Amino acid sequence: MKIIRYPNTTDRSLKPWSSADELLLEQVLGQNVSEKKIITYNDRFGYLNCQLHQCDVLSVISYKSQEKSHKINRENNGLIFDDTRFVNPLSSIDQKVDMALMKVPKSLHLFELYLAQINTCIKGEGVVYCSFMTRHFTKQLLSISYKYFELVEQSLAKKKARVLILKKKKELKENELINKLSLGDGQILKQYYGVFSAKEIDKATQFFINNLHVEENTNEVLDLAAGNGVLGYTIQKQLPNCKLHIIDDFYLAVESAKLNLKGEDISFHYNDTLKEIGENSIDLVVSNPPFHFEYETNIEVSLRLFKEVSYCLKQGGKFQMVANRHINYGPHLERIFNKVIRVMQNDKFEIYKCIK
Ligand SMILES: C[S@@+](CC[C@H](N)C(=O)[O-])C[C@H]1O[C@@H](n2cnc3c(N)ncnc32)[C@H](O)[C@@H]1O
Repeated sequence: MKIIRYPNTTDRSLKPWSSADELLLEQVLGQNVSEKKIITYNDRFGYLNCQLHQCDVLSVISYKSQEKSHKINRENNGLIFDDTRFVNPLSSIDQKVDMALMKVPKSLHLFELYLAQINTCIKGEGVVYCSFMTRHFTKQLLSISYKYFELVEQSLAKKKARVLILKKKKELKENELINKLSLGDGQILKQYYGVFSAKEIDKATQFFINNLHVEENTNEVLDLAAGNGVLGYTIQKQLPNCKLHIIDDFYLAVESAKLNLKGEDISFHYNDTLKEIGENSIDLVVSNPPFHFEYETNIEVSLRLFKEVSYCLKQGGKFQMVANRHINYGPHLERIFNKVIRVMQNDKFEIYKCIK
C-alpha cells in the first residue's frame, strides 16, 4: 500500500506515518478485529484508515487537509471512499465502539477532548490505545487518561514509540471542553480545547492587534488561518459593517470562531485553501500564518497560502500579517506582491503590509 502526504512537501525528512502509527496497527492486528468496531483519532494522512480497510472503522477527522489526504490515499489504493465513515471531534457518536486508536496529538488539551469523546462512545469493556514517540512523553498524558479511564498501562517501547492502554471507562457527565481567553479589554473569547493558542492570546497576535489599524473604505476582509477568530473579531470592532470571511483548516478552530463572531455578513470556511474565495474580491487579508504542524516546522503551507491571498485580493488590496522574525518571510512575500513594507517590529515579531 502506498501512502502519501497531502499537502505534499519538498522536505524529505517528513513522512506520512511513524513508528507510533505502526505500533497502533500492531495492537489491532494481534486481535480478532473483523468483528470489532474501531474508531481512530489523529490518523493524519490515512495510514491506519487504509491499512484497516477490511475492518469496521469510523475515522475522526479534525482537519480538512486530513479529510483530503484520506480521500487521496484511499482512491490511490483502489479503496472505496465513503465519507459517512468520517465524523468530527464534536460529533455525538451513536454506535458503540470496541476499540479506539489514537496517535497522541501534540496539544494535551486536544488529547483530552479526544478522550472525552471516546468516553461517550466506547463500550464498558472497550480498550483505547494511544501511541506516541517516547521523546514526547509527559506525565500529563497519564493524569489526563486517569480522568476518563480507571486503568492506564504502558507498553514496552518499540522503535522509539510506546502505547498507553486505557481500560474501564469512568461514568462521567458530558462536559464541554472550552477555554476562555481574555482579550484584555474585558472581552472574552471562547475556544474548544486544542485550538491555538491554548491559554492566552498568542504574543505575536497580541502585537499585531495592538498595531492593526484598518482603512475605512475596507469592505470585504478575510481572516486567514483564523483560529478562534481573534483577528476577525478585532476587525469587526473597527469596521462593524464589513463582510468577513473566516478560514481555517482545523474543524475546532472554525467552530470556535462561530462562538465568538456574530453577524449576518460572516462566512465561515472550513478549508485548507482559498479556492472557494473569489478572484479579485477581497480588500484586506489578515493573518498570523501557521508554521507548526504538530511536531513539524514547515513554511510551505504558508507560502502556498500567500500566493492564494494574492489571487483573492483586489488590485491594490492589502495583506497584513504578523510572524516570528526568525522565519524571515520578507523575500518570499516580495516575490508575490507588488509592494512589501515591514511596518513594525519588536525583538521577536514583525508585521508586514503587502500590496497587490
Ligand atoms: C498561528 S495560528 C493563528 C490563529 C489565530 N489567527 C490567532 O492569531 O490566534 C495558525 C492557524 O492556522 C491554521 N491552519 C493551518 N494550516 C492551514 C491551512 N492550510 N489553511 C487554513 N488554516 C490553516 C491552524 O489550524 C491555526 O488555527
